[in-house]
Order: sequence, then C-alpha cells, then structure tokens
Amino acid sequence: NTSQTPHDKGVDNTLRLLMEGYRYIPNRCRRFETDIFTTRLMGQKMICISGKEAAEVFYNNELFRRKGAAPKRVQKSLFGQKGVQTMDGAEHRHRKQLFMSLMTPERLELLRDLTTKQWEYAIDKWEQMDHVVFFKETQKVMCRLACQWAGVPLWAKEVKQRASDFGAMIDAFGAVGPRHWLGRRSRKRSEKWIRTIIKQVRAGKLIADGDTALYAMAWHRDLNGKLMSKQMAAVELINILRPIVAIARYVTFSVIALHQYPETRTKLQSNEKGYSQMFVQEVRRYYPFGPFLGARVRKDFTWKEHDFKKGTLVLLDMYGTNHSSTVWERPNEFMPERFRGWEGTPFNFIPQGGGDFDMGHRCAGEWVTVEAMKASLEFLTQQVNYELPSQNLSFSMTRMPTIPKSRLVIQNVRWK
Ligand code: HEM
Repeated sequence: NTSQTPHDKGVDNTLRLLMEGYRYIPNRCRRFETDIFTTRLMGQKMICISGKEAAEVFYNNELFRRKGAAPKRVQKSLFGQKGVQTMDGAEHRHRKQLFMSLMTPERLELLRDLTTKQWEYAIDKWEQMDHVVFFKETQKVMCRLACQWAGVPLWAKEVKQRASDFGAMIDAFGAVGPRHWLGRRSRKRSEKWIRTIIKQVRAGKLIADGDTALYAMAWHRDLNGKLMSKQMAAVELINILRPIVAIARYVTFSVIALHQYPETRTKLQSNEKGYSQMFVQEVRRYYPFGPFLGARVRKDFTWKEHDFKKGTLVLLDMYGTNHSSTVWERPNEFMPERFRGWEGTPFNFIPQGGGDFDMGHRCAGEWVTVEAMKASLEFLTQQVNYELPSQNLSFSMTRMPTIPKSRLVIQNVRWK
C-alpha cells in the first residue's frame, strides 16, 4: 500500500523540479528503483508515475479525469481556458470528434503539399539572407502553413507577430517570470484576432471553405445544440494553429540530428523507403519536448499495491517513458532504425501522449506533426544546401520546453 511507495522528501520540491527539469521524474525513478513515487509540488501532494504500464493506467478514463488538472497558469498561456484539454466524458468525446474530423487522409495529403509549397517560398527568401536563425524562421513557415491549412486569412505583414505569439505561448509552459507573462500577452492578442475572424465568418463577411478548421470551429455545435461562444471557438481554433507552429521545434531538432549524425542525411537524401518515417519518429522520441502530463484521480483505486486517492494529481513521465530502458534498447542513442518493424503500442511511445485518439486525450495532431515533419525533412535534404557556422547547439534539460542555445543558425542557403 501507500506506506511502501517511495517518497521524495522535502516540504515542497518545486525548486528541485525546476533544477532538474525533464529529468526530475526519471532521476527519482532510477534512484528509488521504482516506476512510482510521491512528492509535493506547487504546494500539492502528487504521485509521479513512469513507463508503459503507467501510461496504460493513466489513460484509463474510469480512473482519471482532466477537469481541475491543468494549472491555471498553463491554461492562460499554453492551452487556453476551458478547451478540449480540460474536458471529460461525453463532452470531451464530442469535442474531440471535432478535432479528429479534420484529420482525414485528404486533409493530410493537402497538408503535405502545402508544407512543401511553404518551404519553396521560404527558400527563395532565405537565399537572400546573410544568415538564417532557423528556429525563428521555421516558426514563420509553420505559421503560414497553419493558417493556410486551417483556412485562416493571414496578411504577409502580420506573419512575424502571429508566429512570434504562437511561439511565445508554447515557450511559456514551463516558465516562471517574463517568459510566462509574454505567453499570456501573446495568447490574449491571438484570441482577440481569432475571435474577430470567427465573428466575420458567422456574419457572412468571410467565407470559410467547408472542409477547413476555420469552418469547423465557427459552426460546431456542442452536445446541447448550441454554437460555441466566439471565445471558445477561438481557443479551439488556436488549438489547431499553435501546435502546428510547435512543429518548428521538432524540425529544428531534426536539422541538428542531420548535422550530428551525417549518415542519417545520406539516407534521407537517397529517399530510402520508409526512412523519413523512422527518422521523424526517432526525433520525437529522442529530443525532449513535453516533460510530463497531469490528471486527477477520479475514484479511489489501487495500482501495483499503491493507493490512489480520489482527487490526487498524478503526473505521467513522458520524457522518461520515451527513454526507458525497459522499453528501448540503448535509449540514449539516436537510432532511427530502431523503428524498423517496431511493435508499437498506444502506451510505449508517448511524445504526444498515449492511449486512444477518439476516446482519450492523445494529441489530435500526431499525424499532422509526422506528415509536416516528413515533408519538411525530405524537402530540406533533397532540395536545399546550407551550412552551419560554428555555434552552441546544446540545449538545456531544465528549460521546458527546451531549444538549442543558438536557435540553430544556418548560412549560404541555396537551392540544389
Ligand atoms: C494534445 C503534444 C502537435 C492538437 C497534446 C498532448 C501532448 C501534445 C503531449 C496532450 C496529451 C494528453 O493530454 O494526454 C504535441 C506535440 C506536438 C503537437 C509535441 C508537435 C510539436 C499538435 C498539432 C495539433 C495538435 C499539429 C493540431 C493540428 C492537439 C490537441 C490536443 C493535443 C487538440 C488536445 C487533445 C485532447 O485533450 O483530447 N499534444 N502536439 N497537436 N494536441 Fe498536440
């Protein structure tokens, strides 16, 4: 029972969490030789769990709920308030369907094409630039892509601000202080912009194509048959736009992987069958993005002889599960080939959450992410030459979300 559950001593371990970042949970799991321990963070008792069995229990809707799990500071920066991430039960399934209905094979095919087109446009510009801060410029590429795919009108002169606002919301999630406040301001500005667009669609002043996210969000009816409020529709449309901009982080890490493991570049260039898929899977596994997820215990239960009391916050270790040596051979090596013939389950590879897309909270945009990454990496290796000047490519394991120190600078960008 709970008295045997290892406990991270200390009145409150928030500071240690900030000091150890992505490794806070995995470090303790290793030290206590466990996949579960209790701690106090942000003034609350919490249970931390790690690994594929932990993911399986975490995604059991009978045992966990999301309502009251995400801290307000995260909702006010990253997610938006009262969105799909915070819902449960039938309401959640109905809202999730709205997102999943946008992920058809045709829409994903379109996304691939648009990704390539946006890169073509960007490279024409990058050729003229003395040097390119890849992460920043790729956020702009992804912002254009996001708006184009979702049917949201975007003026060329707005791109910089909108991309930087989406970027700031993402950058805020593990932050205290200025980075957090910038995220909040950016969210306010973005919600205002998107509310106006929703209003224009509803007033018949802006025509939204029937198969776009803009149309879907503007006209979605909740279970009670009512349109969402303009604010709610804006929050959910931003839940499509912002995370497409987040893909820029993974593309940046991908380009670093190409540089540090040059044999992967050769294989991507030669378009070896299935290689781009394995490569992007390994990027999503290897590089840190989301550290952990939170949910509250819905009703008392026991798991592996540990008591879970109703209402307790439980954190699932995403980073540690993707680097677990019980799941992965040589987890700390970058090896795309590990995904050849790989037998995945919904719980052993969870960079964007686990479980079921429709029934649970697993990321609605996982296919969008994979397809946009593949199209980007195929394009960048097959169509473009560039150089990396010497720079600091290391990234902190305590900054959440992390990003290479230099933001990845490239130069002499040329079409092949
Ligand atoms: C949820 C990560 C891209 C839409 C999530 C979750 C994670 C995640 C960790 C939470 C899973 C959970 O709560 O159990 C990421 C990462 C991305 C990415 C790392 C790429 C860099 C996308 C994209 C979209 C998207 C491209 C949409 C086009 C969503 C939505 C949810 C979600 C709507 C909420 C699902 C729900 O609560 O039911 N994502 N995501 N994400 N993601 Fe993503």
